[in-house]
Amino acid sequence: MAFLFLMLMELQGKRIILGVSASIAAYKAPMIVRELIKQGAEVRVVMTPSAEKFVSRTVLMNLSKNPVPMDMFEDDIQDGGSWHIHLAHWCDVMLIAPCSATTLARLAMGFYDTALSIIACALPKDIPLLIAPAMDSDMWEHPAVQRNIQTLIQDGSIIIPPAIGELASGIFGPGRLPDIDVLLAHCSHILSGSEVSIQRAAAPSEIEIHEEIPQRLSLYGKHVLITAGPTFERIDDVRFIGNFSSGKMGFALARQCAKQGALVTLITGPVSLKTPEGAIQRIDVESAHEMHDAVMKHQSKQDIIIMSAAIADFTPDKRHEGKIKKGDSDSMSVMLKKTTDILSELGKIKSHNQILIGFALESHNAMEYGKKKIAEKNCDLMIVNLANKIDSGFGGDNNTISIIDRVGGIKEFPTMTKDACAEAIIEQVLIFGDQS
Ligand code: CTP
Repeated sequence: MAFLFLMLMELQGKRIILGVSASIAAYKAPMIVRELIKQGAEVRVVMTPSAEKFVSRTVLMNLSKNPVPMDMFEDDIQDGGSWHIHLAHWCDVMLIAPCSATTLARLAMGFYDTALSIIACALPKDIPLLIAPAMDSDMWEHPAVQRNIQTLIQDGSIIIPPAIGELASGIFGPGRLPDIDVLLAHCSHILSGSEVSIQRAAAPSEIEIHEEIPQRLSLYGKHVLITAGPTFERIDDVRFIGNFSSGKMGFALARQCAKQGALVTLITGPVSLKTPEGAIQRIDVESAHEMHDAVMKHQSKQDIIIMSAAIADFTPDKRHEGKIKKGDSDSMSVMLKKTTDILSELGKIKSHNQILIGFALESHNAMEYGKKKIAEKNCDLMIVNLANKIDSGFGGDNNTISIIDRVGGIKEFPTMTKDACAEAIIEQVLIFGDQS
């Protein structure tokens, strides 16, 4: 399944600072500026003095139609003083591409002796800093570089992992600047909504980038939509009909997909879970109706959709304003109506290169119902789990799953943590994607 380059509406009208540092991939910087402008963004460029060895400052000035600061004290950029603060406050996102090992170290250690590093430091807390390191494999794998990467993740920067391939040195390995469409997709993803999680000063990262890189990131640049958690259907202003889903399975899937390089849209019902780290846009919803609208808004650009949420099948016919009083009657009834089956809708409109995965939570005849659901809802894979078994289904940290594919294959797994289940599910998705 090829990664399609789409018009990225999220970049339209956005203000982007491109930081360019001294990696051989800096020669691609003019193409990055041109593509961002083509997508409707306004671009300002800053570069480190040594980046000029690899790319012309004049070309970058001409393309961005603005001065390209290198040194903090240049006369024509002073803008009445505090130019770095003004520029940092001007932008919606800063992308450093390529980011050399030395610039990574400057940013991690807090050496603000170049125009580029001082602007990165001056960014307001809610402005994302995306960093695309590019260097030779041995440099990338050096412990000091990996330490700096971890420091920057902890400080809230978003690292776009380097691609694997042939490098300028002739060596094959991790270190290439990702393709421009992947860089743009990361910018677009982070700008695509106010719900995007930007975790500056977050807790120490769980992402072990150093261990990830020797293998190919299997979902690199793919768009994955995941639903998670329960939905709450309001009866009145203080009561609702809900279920016991904790959201842990969906969040584990989001975490694993982001680790594998995917751009994740996580649509979740009410849960008390922290958004996993990585390129994850989180959208919080409450009801089946809101989940339907959010899924439909985002579904068309997805390569993979995983519907792990426990969405209510019924919702109150009408919602009462205020609180319903107990009154004198010994009973009360609430009329319910069916919600829209989101997965079935997705099955009807899905494109041939989209992979659709459903979950079936069953209390009995699990496989039989699972097979029926995969056919009826036109899914590619159905994850069956049992509602009435210890270590399975809602709430806990473990799950016991079986995966049915659309051609009748069944894989059963032992009880595992939800993270391990997520890994197993992604592996099956990739196998299915390769076969189709
Ligand atoms: N689902 C959905 N929209 C709904 C209800 C369910 O998209 N309104 C999705 C769930 O996210 C899950 C799949 O449908 O991926 C199966 O949900 P499940 O509750 O197991 O089955 P139902 O089709 O709702 O049928 P039943 O409750 O009768 O088992």
